[in-house]
Amino acid sequence: MCGIIGYCGPKQAVEVLVEGLKRLEYRGYDSAGIAVGFKNEVTVIKKKGKIKDLRQVIPDGIKGNYGIGHTRWATHGSVNDINAHPHSGCAGKIVIAHNGIIENYTGLKEILEKEGHVFKSETDSEVIAHLIEKYYTDDLEKAVKEALSILKGTYGIVCINPDEPDRIIGARNGSPLVLGVGDGEMFLASDVTAIISHTKQVVYLEDGEVVSIRPDGFKTTDLNENRIEKDVEYISWELEEIEKNGFSHFMEKEILEQPEAIKRAISGRVITDVASAHLGGLDLTTKELLNIERVKIIGAGTSYHAGMVGAYLLESIARIPCVPEIASELRYRNPIIERNTLYFAISQSGETADTLYAMRELQRKGATVLGVCNVVGSTIARESDGGVYIHSGPEIAVASTKAFSSQITVFYLFALLLSRMRDMSYEQGIDYIDNLRSIPAKMDEIFRKRNEIKKLAEKYAHYKDMLFLGKGINYPVAMEGALKLKEISYIHAEGYTSAEIKHGPIALINEETPSVFLVPDGGLKEKVISNMKEVKAREGKIIAITVEGDDSVGEIADDVFMIPKINEIFYPFLLVVPLQLFSYYCALELGRDVDQPRNLAKSVTVE
Ligand code: M6R
Repeated sequence: MCGIIGYCGPKQAVEVLVEGLKRLEYRGYDSAGIAVGFKNEVTVIKKKGKIKDLRQVIPDGIKGNYGIGHTRWATHGSVNDINAHPHSGCAGKIVIAHNGIIENYTGLKEILEKEGHVFKSETDSEVIAHLIEKYYTDDLEKAVKEALSILKGTYGIVCINPDEPDRIIGARNGSPLVLGVGDGEMFLASDVTAIISHTKQVVYLEDGEVVSIRPDGFKTTDLNENRIEKDVEYISWELEEIEKNGFSHFMEKEILEQPEAIKRAISGRVITDVASAHLGGLDLTTKELLNIERVKIIGAGTSYHAGMVGAYLLESIARIPCVPEIASELRYRNPIIERNTLYFAISQSGETADTLYAMRELQRKGATVLGVCNVVGSTIARESDGGVYIHSGPEIAVASTKAFSSQITVFYLFALLLSRMRDMSYEQGIDYIDNLRSIPAKMDEIFRKRNEIKKLAEKYAHYKDMLFLGKGINYPVAMEGALKLKEISYIHAEGYTSAEIKHGPIALINEETPSVFLVPDGGLKEKVISNMKEVKAREGKIIAITVEGDDSVGEIADDVFMIPKINEIFYPFLLVVPLQLFSYYCALELGRDVDQPRNLAKSVTVE
């Protein structure tokens, strides 16, 4: 969703701001803008559309060594130049960019208008600029704090005033803000990707903190003027990880990175000697692990699907009752916290508002919630009671791919750990580890045949609707396949457990609605084949994904793609890859914006 960048230092701010905004593009946005300060003047330039559209309206040779920039994903007010950030007060001096939602803006706006303030936009954010302007006498930081103390809602903000050149005030409450510490220069950003090309030294701000930056240093305080000492942390991501490196799209790159991502998620966490796993970040003793009676996993979108796989696995092999739940629902059904229940909040970005707020609600009621996150230092990672990083490396494409594989890897490790404390024998543990370790090479085998999937996509991309059908542990994979397809190709797709189609969805089946069936070998295969026959009998076209050497499915399906054989509980890893590639190639065939599909944001920081 919205992105923020701020800079003060010796460089020309325009270049730093525009580069930062380019790197934030992946978050999803509809307009963008910058404010550049030069001595005691500030110039604001805003544009609906992409950063390249903004670039075109930035006058050549615009000078300035400090400034702020923003990518907007509209919530309050339509998508146009005026509603784009940054926003200014009446005098045009106080300029702010804001991520989040100001809940009491209507009342504040009314009061400010009565006091003579004239608003230009329809946004909630503009009220912040006018409020700071109202309180400003000669100290920007003081005025920002006064304004923030009466705002209700969430914010990550940056603010400048050319009367105090080379200074930026930043603050956060519910929307991330990170400080980048350079050599004689300072940065503020909503995520580290915007600044990683300049510095790897960062300070993560917490809710309620305010930072004042100048080129030579920074000062962190709370709203009551208490000084807060912050540690400077080091980002381990490399610049090349957030670049395409020759690939056409980030999504393609990230799909192909999955074998390495899985190896990283496993690395250092398997203890072969005892055929078990070690997940240090969980911070749970053996006794505490043994006392777990139930597990609940909350997440959204792809992360929820990964949680579904995790839940199936934990229940089937660790024999612990486990349910996945969509995070956005949990908070509003007043959940009962049962004794000895362990919760996981699973989120690639670690910033998804639905998951974060659900986690806070659980913690408020006394639950222990562990995070499963990718982004180091993200809010869920910091606020959870422990957790595991998936170490996928940055995921830039809006459509999540490698995070899914890495998230489920963590659950496979956790299931191994718990199972080995219960019923799983040493030999079974070793076999399980061998299967897990074999996955990256088997994924590479699939990649070598990806041209076959491209051909299937070319054949099927022009259909309007599709069903994705699987069973057991592969049912969430069918849902994930459908989500991927609709997200980036805009083809309407739904994922079901294959038996469920008889209860309604089969009414959709005719020669215009193809179905993608997940039919690996294993105990449920014959059941899925029966469902395939039901579809075939109604003239539905079928793409089947099955296991190499299995010709039985080919007699029913119109098209078949074969994946390598593995123990049946590990098929989600191998089935998801052809589905990711299928949606990628369908989107290409239809000329879609693969990495930044319409209306979507990478990190959904509003409810
Ligand atoms: O960062 P998170 O994992 O919490 O994000 C959750 C969903 O917003 C995300 O998975 C979304 O569904 C993806 N665009 C799916 O590709």
